[in-house]
Amino acid sequence: MKTIDKISRMLTLIKILKKEGKSVGFVPTMGYLHEGHLSLTRQAKKHTDLVVMSIFVNPIQFGKNEDYDKYPRDFKRDEELARSAGVDIIFYPSSEEMYPEGYATYVEVKGLTDSLCGDSRPGHFRGVTTVVSKLFWIVKPDIAYFGQKDAQQAYVIRKMAQDLNMDVDVRILPTVREKDGLAMSSRNTYLSEGERKDAVVLYQALKSAEEMVRGGETESKKIIKAIEGIIKPKSRIKIDYVSIVDTKRLKPVSKITGEVLIALAVFIGKARLIDNIIIAP
Ligand code: PAJ
Repeated sequence: MKTIDKISRMLTLIKILKKEGKSVGFVPTMGYLHEGHLSLTRQAKKHTDLVVMSIFVNPIQFGKNEDYDKYPRDFKRDEELARSAGVDIIFYPSSEEMYPEGYATYVEVKGLTDSLCGDSRPGHFRGVTTVVSKLFWIVKPDIAYFGQKDAQQAYVIRKMAQDLNMDVDVRILPTVREKDGLAMSSRNTYLSEGERKDAVVLYQALKSAEEMVRGGETESKKIIKAIEGIIKPKSRIKIDYVSIVDTKRLKPVSKITGEVLIALAVFIGKARLIDNIIIAP
């Protein structure tokens, strides 16, 4: 496994590998790796000759009062985990390398970014699509892997790749969870013991929403109320949003008639956590 921190070296290496006819799988991350990241890597390993993982805490996708400075970082540990999951190349650039002085180009996807996290975190997705398009130009992957855990992000990136004719197959893989159902996240390390215990209600609430839909409930309002009713008794949790949107445009639906994304975001202590399920009636 190689670690590369310069864009120019990465470009040269990828050019050579592509000339040799190697297919490239790509897993972009912000590091502090967990089983969610590693499951993407293992899938990439199955389908492509080479797996590139980027580890870059992207400053431009964090808001002013968000956790960029506090975001957990442990490169040595990440290197070991990446190696054990079969990563061939880690791309680990500095902020200065990615955004040198005078940097001025941004990529923005309209529409899909208006709702859910786009609404609560203005500018967030512009930061994500900008960095991911830069990474796509640098790594030139045949297939790029994203987690359903960040469903809106994955849909936005898929749309970007389509609209900008990027020749990349964007694949979305299932959310990996802890034994008690909590979606794995680098930000779970922010939780105190009590907060961690409370956090299990997020997936429990989504599961009970799923049961309601399976039982024939189609009124979004009722389902959202039920989800809130499960979360609210945990006083350490503050709901940011609970929303039911269609999976094409990510717009709220009042009645569930087709496939929907039931998504939520909450604050628990220092963490902002998100989770979701996709379900069809
Ligand atoms: P990060 O939060 O590190 O996540 C990297 C990738 O891992 C994303 O595609 C995310 O959806 C996926 N992932 C995270 N937790 C997961 C879980 N529990 N199960 C399955 N997949 C999971 O998302 C980002 O970084 C950044 O926004 C990035 C795309 C790298 C751009 O900076």
